[in-house]
Amino acid sequence: MAKSIKFAVLTSSDSGHAGERHDIGGDAVIELMSRHGHSLVKRELEPDDQERLTSKIRAWSDDPDVELILTTGGTGLAPRDVMPEATLSVIDYEVPGIAEAMRAASLQITKMAMLSRAVAGVANQTLIINLPGNPKGAVETLEVVLPVLAHAVEIMQDTHRGEHPIERHDRAH
Ligand code: MTE
Repeated sequence: MAKSIKFAVLTSSDSGHAGERHDIGGDAVIELMSRHGHSLVKRELEPDDQERLTSKIRAWSDDPDVELILTTGGTGLAPRDVMPEATLSVIDYEVPGIAEAMRAASLQITKMAMLSRAVAGVANQTLIINLPGNPKGAVETLEVVLPVLAHAVEIMQDTHRGEHPIERHDRAH
């Protein structure tokens, strides 16, 4: 049986945080992940504030109970879209192929996909993936990566393979 992943969902939305809008993007992500046998361990909605998002991502990636952080929203071009910056400030290394695959597949659906600045990476053996905020976009992009998630989490946690080469390289200098 495929591995069940313990995942957390972090939504970036000023209007959601102000209580003006329900987080339907987060709901859609949770529904799809649950349908595939994965378990939600944490969920938060923060305003589009880089410091708050950074500290949440850092805290969750330090939490051994969280294997995967799926973020929704805040990846576009608006001045307050800061989820990629928050993610990049926490991760140890990027996994560019994940964001490339999401954008490539999404471009077949909507030209708007090229406006996504989503990134993916690993912080402290926790995989972090940015998804768009609207439920349709969140589900479409999550469907692209779902087939590789369990394998990605397993190899990321595989301590028998030794340290990641980037860490080894850093220490050599
Ligand atoms: N990708 C898919 N598959 N489907 C979508 O509807 N929406 C796009 C894009 N990626 C979309 C998508 C839009 S309109 C934007 S602005 C960017 O994601 C960023 O969305 P965000 O600001 O909610 O993160």
